[in-house]
Amino acid sequence: MKNIRIGLIGCGGIMNGAHIPGYLKDENCEITAICDIKDAALQKTGDRLGIPAERRFRDYRDLLASGLVDAVDIATSNDVHVPIAIAALEAGLPVSVEKPIGMNFEQSMALEKKSMETGLPVFVCFSWRYRPHPRYMKYLVDNGEIGNLYHIYMKCIKDSGLWKGRRLEWRFQKDRAGSGVLCDLGSHMFDMIRFFGEEFENVYCDMGTIVKSRQLEDSEEWGEVTTDDWSNVICRLQSGIGATVTLSRCATNEKDTIEFYLIGENGSLRFLYDNGKQTLTRCTGEDQATNTFREVEIPADFSVGGQSQSYLSLLRGTPDKYAAAITEGLRSQAAVDAAVLSYETGRAITIAELYEGGSK
Ligand SMILES: NC(=O)c1ccc[n+]([C@@H]2O[C@H](COP(=O)([O-])OP(=O)(O)OC[C@H]3O[C@@H](n4cnc5c(N)ncnc54)[C@H](O)[C@@H]3O)[C@@H](O)[C@H]2O)c1
Repeated sequence: MKNIRIGLIGCGGIMNGAHIPGYLKDENCEITAICDIKDAALQKTGDRLGIPAERRFRDYRDLLASGLVDAVDIATSNDVHVPIAIAALEAGLPVSVEKPIGMNFEQSMALEKKSMETGLPVFVCFSWRYRPHPRYMKYLVDNGEIGNLYHIYMKCIKDSGLWKGRRLEWRFQKDRAGSGVLCDLGSHMFDMIRFFGEEFENVYCDMGTIVKSRQLEDSEEWGEVTTDDWSNVICRLQSGIGATVTLSRCATNEKDTIEFYLIGENGSLRFLYDNGKQTLTRCTGEDQATNTFREVEIPADFSVGGQSQSYLSLLRGTPDKYAAAITEGLRSQAAVDAAVLSYETGRAITIAELYEGGSK
């Protein structure tokens, strides 16, 4: 099989921590070029991968024009996802892009349009879709294990906003991130609600900032945090049921906790991620008499080999059926934008309003 040549754009935390290890597991893929605006990131990742100096780029346009790659993977700060992805599609290259796909719904629509015009795919890194536990949970829901859904409770809370000395990185700046935990963590939760078969009707949101100023990254001065540290989102779904989404990066005693709790007419399924430990439990059948939750074993064939593997399968023409494409990215972005607008206006915002231009 021909090697797929991947170009990496944005060589920071998630690219090094999750994407690269995924590519390195595949013998028929090769990382042939990298790009970052920071020399230190280029050097660290380049040295790690043994990429020669002439294949390390500071400007993504040079990487796109280099002829060295068959596809790109974009994991920059949120502000440049869409311009880079559009340029890649225009250069004839398929794209993998981190979430949230854009800074807002309007920008993300432009990416969808470009993908349709060029006929090239945009793969979206909604990481939970590529993990066995949520995939099996979806399978159980789709197969009627708990019947019609009554409630969806999603929670993603951590203490990452409280790390001592954490500076005013792009995540804390609205003009570089779009929003805070709402788009960072919420985009995943909104996507999972859709993954479990639901669509958004409207969204109501409240949010706030706890750590209001931080020291600038490259100076002694301090600046204002302009993104949300917490968001609480109430969603009305098209099926008529509700979902709540609880998000925080200032949850003092929670290192990294995620919960997907689905309650249906015939029982419940609950996925818990507790700082790396994952468990899926269910209460169905006779266990309902005592409200007993039992751990569910995940069948081996629910593993897709991870997110990077799923992207490579798409590039090889054998797509993973649970993978997120541009449409998934856009629908999640719509819920994010509706939540922002709801906070700003103090009322519930329908998704239809965004499609009618209400986000402008
Ligand atoms: N799927 C997930 O679970 C998950 C987890 C963490 C982060 N993310 C997403 O991944 C993206 C990156 O997050 P991170 O934590 O790795 O951030 P990071 O700050 O560690 O890394 C971002 C890198 O992009 C580089 N960059 C910025 N603008 C660039 C440009 N124009 N061209 C090339 N490089 C550029 C920066 O210099 C930096 O090295 C964000 O969109 C974030 O939301 C997703």
